[in-house]
Amino acid sequence: MAKRVGFATRMGAIAAAVGSAVGLGNIWRFPYEAGVNGGGAFIIVYICCILVMGIPVILSEFIIGRSTHSNMKSALRKLSPGKKYYLFTYLCILGSFVVIGFYSVVCGWIIEYLYQAALGHLSGHTPQEYSDMFTSLVANPWRCVGWTVLFLVFNFMVMSRGIEKGIERVASIMMPLLFLILIVFCVKSLLLPGAGKGLRFLFYPDFSALTMRGVLDAFGQAFLSLSIGISCLVTYSSYFKDDSPLTKDAVTVAALDTLVAILSGVMIFPAVFSFGVEPTAGPRLIFEVLPGIFQQMTGGYFWALLFFLLVFFASLTSTISLSEIPITFLIEEHKMSRPRAIAWTALFTFALATIAALSFNVLDDIKLWGKNIFDMMDYAASNIFMLLGGLFTAVYVGWILDRKVIHDQLTNGGRLKGVLEPYIVFCLRYIAPISIFFIFLYLTGII
Ligand code: PHE
Repeated sequence: MAKRVGFATRMGAIAAAVGSAVGLGNIWRFPYEAGVNGGGAFIIVYICCILVMGIPVILSEFIIGRSTHSNMKSALRKLSPGKKYYLFTYLCILGSFVVIGFYSVVCGWIIEYLYQAALGHLSGHTPQEYSDMFTSLVANPWRCVGWTVLFLVFNFMVMSRGIEKGIERVASIMMPLLFLILIVFCVKSLLLPGAGKGLRFLFYPDFSALTMRGVLDAFGQAFLSLSIGISCLVTYSSYFKDDSPLTKDAVTVAALDTLVAILSGVMIFPAVFSFGVEPTAGPRLIFEVLPGIFQQMTGGYFWALLFFLLVFFASLTSTISLSEIPITFLIEEHKMSRPRAIAWTALFTFALATIAALSFNVLDDIKLWGKNIFDMMDYAASNIFMLLGGLFTAVYVGWILDRKVIHDQLTNGGRLKGVLEPYIVFCLRYIAPISIFFIFLYLTGII
């Protein structure tokens, strides 16, 4: 049985949770989702979603994890003895593999751009050439698979060394740096000619541009970005100390995560409009736009390198939290040693990620509803697994879990005020389930 060592400090615990939340979801996915869904109106729905579902669901994961100090399966067994709720854990594990499967392909692209930046190849091109550069990358199976595998090797090396402390330390240096550098890029982008159009696109709420599909995407994006719905935060919070204020921590994680997403939008959209790139370019958006920003900067070579390096670390702190879900589960529930649990997790991850990496080239004619395998994994991860997971977690904590456990966790046994408790319970009981229910009606074509 693994020895359960908790996070040393509250800061360390928050850094790890923020490290999990802040990643490609914020820097790569948020801008392009906002782009395809009309900008401002999408952001408003997204923020509402964070307030009424994101924070309450983060808290419900924290409550399950910290009250039991165990992984999802034994947590649910401890909290509801004799009931079958623990079976939900398998959905979480499947979900975590689907997320890491497509996610690590994008991490691979980031390494390619890091490499190109190091060679100095990211400057001196026209917007069309940047677009062609990305097209030729994804069309090349060797490069896609190679970089993805390399990224996963890093990921599992870190996990196998058990240097969580190292990663924690790296994360607490890298995250503030990433934040600072994002601000520098925002300023640069805002100074480009025609930047105002980008800002208007990002913040002016044109609700006529928002479809039901856009609303669904905003929900899925919020869940993916906050790392909720697949028990990642249950796993992390099981290592939290009993005296940390859960509500404050949840609000801090959600606020920092949302800030990074919005800053990424402020960095990208002025440049999108200035360079004449389509805001609806989808997953390729940042790869077409960022090199253009670097090019405008004195010392662009170093900025580009630094930027991709930081994004690389931000992604690594996210994939680490993702692979920790099956690893902790295998260690604690199947009594595996850590190396063995890592080996099994790595095997499944490599297989799924390779298929995802090939879906733009060798496997690109395998399509369902116009989506290739990568797109399907991305879609299923956030819009199905995480939403379903969020629904379960909300209903479980809101309706099934003993209210005393919630009160104890939110007030630390009566020592804190817990002013948000009624709000949280209301959202978990009514708002989250009803909204997710409507989303599923929409998905199945009933509305
Ligand atoms: N939240 C991460 C991001 O925004 C992705 C993630 C999802 C990480 C689920 C862990 C669990 O990039």
